[in-house]
Amino acid sequence: MRNNNRQWILKKRPVGDISKDDLELIESNIPEPKDGEALLQNVYLSLDPTNRIWMSDMDQYMPPVELNEVMRGGVVGKIIKSNHSSLPEGSFVSSFTCGWQDYCLVKPEEVNILPRDLPLPLTAYMSAAGLTGFTAYFGFLSITKPKEGETVVVSTAAGAVGSIVGQLAKMKGCKVIGLTGSDEKCKWLREELCFDGAINYKTGDVLEELKTACPEGIDIYFDNTGGIILDAVLKLIKLNARISVCGLISTYNSKEPAPGPYNYGNILMKRAKVEGFIVSDFAEEFPNALNDLSNWILEGKIKYNVDIQKGLENALVALDRLFTGDNTGKLILEVSKEEG
Ligand SMILES: NC(=O)c1ccc[n+]([C@@H]2O[C@H](COP(=O)([O-])OP(=O)(O)OC[C@H]3O[C@@H](n4cnc5c(N)ncnc54)[C@H](OP(=O)(O)O)[C@@H]3O)[C@@H](O)[C@H]2O)c1
Repeated sequence: MRNNNRQWILKKRPVGDISKDDLELIESNIPEPKDGEALLQNVYLSLDPTNRIWMSDMDQYMPPVELNEVMRGGVVGKIIKSNHSSLPEGSFVSSFTCGWQDYCLVKPEEVNILPRDLPLPLTAYMSAAGLTGFTAYFGFLSITKPKEGETVVVSTAAGAVGSIVGQLAKMKGCKVIGLTGSDEKCKWLREELCFDGAINYKTGDVLEELKTACPEGIDIYFDNTGGIILDAVLKLIKLNARISVCGLISTYNSKEPAPGPYNYGNILMKRAKVEGFIVSDFAEEFPNALNDLSNWILEGKIKYNVDIQKGLENALVALDRLFTGDNTGKLILEVSKEEG
């Protein structure tokens, strides 16, 4: 155990890319749990594209992080001192109230105790068997209602959410084309995840390559990027296409409002259904998703990668991997050792 707490505080709202003086790492005392509370030691911190949204004061799906507050983030932590019988010391929990710091106080209603009866690593509950997997599960299966033989296109296809969407689409008997930012990631999609095609959007002509890969058009687009990929897809959608709007990462660091896609008129002409969602919309159904995803992981039907970076002090450098595309799978920061 450390002898102090470290906390990342939001000092300024980033303009464009996050800069190192937008947040400050400060030191404070480790808090003492009162009656009904427990002390959580942060083990894994989830680093997500939405961190950039929460740092801004744009219109968003929950309040932005206030200036001078601890940066928000999902964590998996260990209860190391407890004054509540339902939070036993030594148990591992997920929490959304702790954020970017070493220690925090929690109450039972602020955490979920993680099941330890399955042979899944803790990091699975931050990736394929956690919110990442749930995002793919509901955003793809519930929103687009895929049918066998349909053509599905997914962006950030080698990333945490996108890679699971593609595998779910294969399980449903769809043809799957993924877009990602390197030849190595394309190879992984084709060879390991059995995608039918993979396009490097950084080197190719996205529209021409999509036309070749999807000669009959696109039935379903799972959008993680917005921007030029969305525009190319819109040109090629079929009648009654469905578009699940999961994320818009190509715009998160933009200084100017993103220009609208030129091909947006095709939503009308092709009677396409476009639906945005936030994974928490499906919170009541998370237990079903956890059950299905855990089984599929254990049966080898869903594969996933985690990209584990180390040290709370490296949070900002690690977060940047999501915007450069250096992350290989769900980006997780190891804040302390599971066994430590
Ligand atoms: N709606 C929800 O509830 C929900 C929940 C979770 C995540 N999301 C969204 O899902 C998307 C993926 O998140 P994730 O956690 O799975 O992250 P991820 O895909 O593991 O990592 C982000 C990836 O985005 C790609 N990228 C970065 N900048 C880009 C740009 N300008 N244009 C195109 N691609 C770019 C990079 O991959 P390449 O190498 O392929 O460029 C990077 O690896 C994000 O848009 C996120 O906001 C939404």
